[in-house]
Amino acid sequence: MANLKTIKLGQSGLEASQIALGIMRMGSLSVADATKVIETTYNAGVNFYDAADIYLNGKSEKTFGEALKQASFSRDDIYIQSKGGIVLDPSRSNGDLVFGQRYDFSKQHLLEAVDGILQRLDIDYLDSFLLHRPDALMEPEEIADAFNELQASGKVRHFGVSNFNGSQIDVLQSYLNQKLIVDQLQFGVMHTGMVDSGIHVNMTDADSVDHDSGLLEYLRFHKMNIQAWSPYQYGMFEGAFIDNPKFPELNAKLQEVADKYNVTKNAIATAWITRMPQNIQVLLGSMNPKHLQESIAGADVQLDKQEWYDIYFAAGHTLP
Ligand SMILES: NC(=O)c1ccc[n+]([C@@H]2O[C@H](COP(=O)([O-])OP(=O)(O)OC[C@H]3O[C@@H](n4cnc5c(N)ncnc54)[C@H](OP(=O)(O)O)[C@@H]3O)[C@@H](O)[C@H]2O)c1
Repeated sequence: MANLKTIKLGQSGLEASQIALGIMRMGSLSVADATKVIETTYNAGVNFYDAADIYLNGKSEKTFGEALKQASFSRDDIYIQSKGGIVLDPSRSNGDLVFGQRYDFSKQHLLEAVDGILQRLDIDYLDSFLLHRPDALMEPEEIADAFNELQASGKVRHFGVSNFNGSQIDVLQSYLNQKLIVDQLQFGVMHTGMVDSGIHVNMTDADSVDHDSGLLEYLRFHKMNIQAWSPYQYGMFEGAFIDNPKFPELNAKLQEVADKYNVTKNAIATAWITRMPQNIQVLLGSMNPKHLQESIAGADVQLDKQEWYDIYFAAGHTLP
């Protein structure tokens, strides 16, 4: 297993690799190919794997669980996280595209969700469990009850959220016995709203609009980590920006910096995130071992400040 920088996730004591693998797309792989993917990442130093009950309607967790049995390392060598709280609508979901019927943070749904996750992964406990997307009808007391029961039974060790803003975290946290450790949010060089609004404070241009309630600062202040989902996608799931002819300026700049450090554009797109001072954990989603190795190499690159800003400008941003 290679050395890869680790970060402490929240106040949990979990020493997680700064680059992690998201298994959202794993359900479309054979078990043999999935085993290659997890072996590749583990050998490169990855010790953290992110799932969700809805990914390919449970198939991604099942494939990961089967691959884990074939792998040369065991369950206790890694951290496994999953997410729940979305009720799938099978009539609107198709392959990679999954849509919810509703969000549901009721105690019963959360307990059943974790049981389903453990069953599909075929493991006894999750290192962490996240609430996937804020449920407008959430009752914090019920969530607190569910978390207490899940922790007491040994099924879940730590808890966090995904796609929450600071106020939602404040309300929920005030009911919990456990400290929330992470907020999983979309972030990458083509999805920088949290950075833009911080740079454009008090301006009147579009970049000054704060869609995230100062989350970068909020989470740092509260000692929670961001897990950056879809780091190479533009839009929500439109596609990767790397090698995409729609983004010539960004690709040219990524290539120029990649040549300097003797790595690939994937590595620089990863290094752009890890250069942030917030110890952001990058959730890679590729199922291609070559792409994954290239991306993980980014953890060894320390961009200088001008390089970081030049990549930000090449993605279409300006300074006031
Ligand atoms: N909390 C949430 O709401 C939420 C939402 C979405 C995702 N997530 C998490 O984030 C993880 C990553 O999401 P993602 O899969 O969208 O991430 P990503 O790493 O941004 O995108 C991976 C996709 O881009 C493709 N791709 C094309 N060119 C590539 C290149 N040069 N390098 C790498 N990939 C390239 C990959 O194809 P190949 O496989 O061919 O490389 C793959 O289909 C998920 O697995 C999940 O754990 C969380």
